Amino acid sequence: MNQDHVRIFDTTLRDGEQAARINLNTAEKIQIARQLEKLRVDIVEAGFPAASQGDMEAVKAISEAIREPVITGLARCSGNDVDAAGKALINASRPRIHTFIATSDIHLRDKLKMTRKEVLESVQKWVSHARSIVRDVEFSAEDASRTDIDFLVEIFQAAIASGATTLNIPDTVGYAVPHEFAEMVREVIKRTGGGKDIIWSVHAHNDLGLAVINSLEAIRNGVRQVECTINGIGERAGNASLEEVVMGLRTRSDHFGVQTRIETSQLYSTSHLVSKLTGFAVPPNKAIVGSNAFAHEAGIHQHGMLCNRSTYEIMNPEDVGAPSTDLVLGKHSGHHAFREKVEDMGYRLSRDEMKEAFSLFKELCDRKEIVSTEDIEILIIDEILAITPERKYILKDFNVHTTRGQASAGISLRNGETIISDAATGNGPIDAAYAAIRRIIDMDTQLVSYQIDAASEKSDAIGEAHIALELQGLVSQGRGASTDIVEASIKAYINAVNRLFQLAAARGIDLEIAKAS
Ligand code: KIV
Ligand code: ZN
Repeated sequence: MNQDHVRIFDTTLRDGEQAARINLNTAEKIQIARQLEKLRVDIVEAGFPAASQGDMEAVKAISEAIREPVITGLARCSGNDVDAAGKALINASRPRIHTFIATSDIHLRDKLKMTRKEVLESVQKWVSHARSIVRDVEFSAEDASRTDIDFLVEIFQAAIASGATTLNIPDTVGYAVPHEFAEMVREVIKRTGGGKDIIWSVHAHNDLGLAVINSLEAIRNGVRQVECTINGIGERAGNASLEEVVMGLRTRSDHFGVQTRIETSQLYSTSHLVSKLTGFAVPPNKAIVGSNAFAHEAGIHQHGMLCNRSTYEIMNPEDVGAPSTDLVLGKHSGHHAFREKVEDMGYRLSRDEMKEAFSLFKELCDRKEIVSTEDIEILIIDEILAITPERKYILKDFNVHTTRGQASAGISLRNGETIISDAATGNGPIDAAYAAIRRIIDMDTQLVSYQIDAASEKSDAIGEAHIALELQGLVSQGRGASTDIVEASIKAYINAVNRLFQLAAARGIDLEIAKAS
């Protein structure tokens, strides 16, 4: 085993997807998983199989779709969870069960209502059980950073004796500060023992903005696996950002003296893909992948750059795959150039999906002079990936009429073989259209957020609408795109309604029954 190799454990599809207002369908999760494989992450945490039927199916599908990285599923220390993870991972080429239980006194007393002895026995029982299913078992002590260190050492020793191969020290609530966390990690590793075959790991949350530095400090103190997410998405303020950890290690290898296997030129496209599919924008000043990360504005800086790039640049944009030029496609572009472009952008489409995407691209070329990378991306995300076979409602037709301050809209939706039409008024065309859709679906969906972006600065730009809807505590996102922003907004609403049905089904809720009662 190479002691200088730091394993990158990506939990975008589990902790990242757990973030409020993110819900990805299985097709979208597979796109991200494929890109993570291209990025060469060592481990993909594909979901939490016992959490819902949707998670179970996604972990199964990812296990079948990607073969290179280790695939893991999360499981609490319980028979139901560990068995569900084992079942979801059955076809994985390199399966890992990741089991966890909280170990801090506050969690034991107020959440688990268990004694330390009971927690210890639970670890022994369920780690051994996981080990009877797969050879690769990770154990995490949730809230480790607020756990009494003597108890933590005892827990980890029990996990090793029961067959765990990776031990994870999470800073679950993002409370630790670098110096203290580093000391704790060093002490735990030293006192637990377990030999060189045990891989030590950390999982840092970003509540105080310290997740990356805490992860890097842990590496300096013996950890050889870091759990992180693309763009740092995750519970609350998120997790350590993968791109920042990886580029920190690479750019300052003189300081850290370790390597990862990450193909860093894929960082930018992976970040972009995750941002587009989750609807979580990347701030322009975000380290490594923000649109300003390599932009030099001040005259003095530009002058320095022209003399020698190293005056103001510690990394080359090419190292992270940041685009320098935009290859423009137009109506003369053929199928081959189009496919190459789509694949360069990080998307993997089936033959039929590619055919459909190409014909939509050609239609767009008739409406727009220049088709940009963003236009193609929107087309793929909104017209190909967001469209799942389980679509309940499809937009058939719409019309809107506006006079100052008043609008009316008529909408026709297809539901199976039936076409349902209705109309409503509102204080603008989008408000009226949304009221008409609510009348058709006969549900009181609440609009939680609405945002419209243009893919370029020209007046024929594609507008992309992102919305979030809430019904009975379920929140779903929707996206829609068109050169007409009213149409984009209507498509986004229908997309969110369809996802609401999928989300409810995955959680065993029948919205039709709930509606009737
Ligand atoms: O934050 C946390 O403690 C976790 C564990 C399940 C690893 O996500
Ligand atoms: Zn976490």
